Amino acid sequence: MNKNAEKNIENAKKLFTSGDIDKIEVGTVKGLQQIHKYLFNDLYDFAGKIRKENISKGNFRFASFLYLEDILKKIETMSESSLDDIINKYVEMNIAHPFLEGNGRSTRIWLDLILKKILNKIVNWEKIDKKLYLQAMERSPVNTLEIKTLIMNNLTDDLSLNTIFKGIETSYYYETED
Ligand SMILES: Nc1ncnc2c1ncn2[C@@H]1O[C@H](COP(=O)(O)OP(=O)(O)O)[C@@H](O)[C@H]1O
Ligand SMILES: [Mg+2]
Repeated sequence: MNKNAEKNIENAKKLFTSGDIDKIEVGTVKGLQQIHKYLFNDLYDFAGKIRKENISKGNFRFASFLYLEDILKKIETMSESSLDDIINKYVEMNIAHPFLEGNGRSTRIWLDLILKKILNKIVNWEKIDKKLYLQAMERSPVNTLEIKTLIMNNLTDDLSLNTIFKGIETSYYYETED
């Protein structure tokens, strides 16, 4: 693992051990920006900042930067009243992809905060296979069934720091090349 990745993980863990996690707004764009800034402040000059260029992955183009602010305002108002609604909101936030880099790692923490608030559960990321997760996310703009199945089958009510740390490590592992 390279040094940057390790430093990243430290920042993410500190978010929870310091108690700063309780200062993060839940389910809002501002909350996601707060998380992104916390994770990447010492790594990216765009930490916490909404992108002003277009980006893509594979053959998927994320939301055009021209409409991004409007799209983000709409996503913020999306319902969080069921697991289904929460995952729809997560999928839309992934389609928006507000940052140049670091969307996956920050948005998974953002998702967990919503799940914790509404259902008192978080995702047991450690149990979700990297390849299956990335396939499901690639598929999600067209069909959300795969990501919904993966998340629904891997929720936990164990909110201990141990589970959270394992989740963070897995979340960072999803983003490494192998
Ligand atoms: N082809 C794709 N279509 C839609 N979403 C994707 C695709 N590939 C990856 N993703 C999502 O984007 C995330 C990676 O975004 P990125 O900004 O690179 O974040 P990070 O730097 O934290 O990995 C993945 O974790 C996944 O959720
Ligand atoms: Mg990345």
